[in-house]
Amino acid sequence: MTEAANKTVVVTGATSGIGLALISQLREAGYVPILTGRNADKVATLAASCKVPGYCLDVADTTAITDVTAQIEADHGPIWGLVNNAGIWLEGEFSNYSEQEIKAVIDTNTLGTIMMTHAVLPAMQSKGSGAIVNVVSTGALYTRKMISVYSASKWAIRGFTGCLEAECAPKGVRVMGFYPGKVNSAMYETAGIDRNLDVAMTPEQAVTMIVTMLSDETMVWGQVSGRSIEDYG
Ligand SMILES: NC(=O)c1ccc[n+]([C@@H]2O[C@H](COP(=O)([O-])OP(=O)(O)OC[C@H]3O[C@@H](n4cnc5c(N)ncnc54)[C@H](OP(=O)(O)O)[C@@H]3O)[C@@H](O)[C@H]2O)c1
Repeated sequence: MTEAANKTVVVTGATSGIGLALISQLREAGYVPILTGRNADKVATLAASCKVPGYCLDVADTTAITDVTAQIEADHGPIWGLVNNAGIWLEGEFSNYSEQEIKAVIDTNTLGTIMMTHAVLPAMQSKGSGAIVNVVSTGALYTRKMISVYSASKWAIRGFTGCLEAECAPKGVRVMGFYPGKVNSAMYETAGIDRNLDVAMTPEQAVTMIVTMLSDETMVWGQVSGRSIEDYG
């Protein structure tokens, strides 16, 4: 297991759901979690109430990624861990999606994860240590109707994660994917979808796995999945 003390872990999309729950559990585990999110007001309020550093960061903005990660390093030293958690849901018939909706999902879920990783990985590799967890989805393990673009955005990250896992482990950096099933968060509501979440796992349950993945440095966790047992019916 790891010595968490003073290890800085950046969490994207930490103003809600899994990301916000992760900030609390990382803090309890002794890490220095950095709360980031696209909404400046939410970031300021939540960072103050969680007593952690907060930075406004829209992961769909590649210039912001470069600037904000550099600022975090200047303020808090090397980034030991990154959790690429920011994500948005899109559901419905593919033909009905607008170009704007499609680009938003790919820019956030896919390019956001890739460019955040691109910003922090070189320093981790040169130090020979670090950990990146990509919050993917069971939607990257199967296909079904009505989620084509969300699924594409996550399948791309499944491939990205697996390739980097093999590329980076020999250099001492663990790149891992977390593949949760339904989680009781704001994600569907934010996307305007009415989803029954009675049998979903809680964000806190999902986060327990992410903290384990980060903290057990003897392991590179690949293709980890999770789903509420009541959701198997
Ligand atoms: N909920 C599920 O059933 C489920 C299942 C599998 C995987 N996941 C994945 O889990 C991750 C977290 O989702 P969640 O369930 O916790 O949903 P959530 O409660 O909606 O949280 C998503 C977070 O991402 C942020 N975000 C969205 N676009 C962003 C951007 N461009 N830049 C920075 N932050 C952005 C949101 O900010 P705002 O607060 O401003 O909206 C929010 O903080 C996502 O990657 C999602 O795909 C979720």
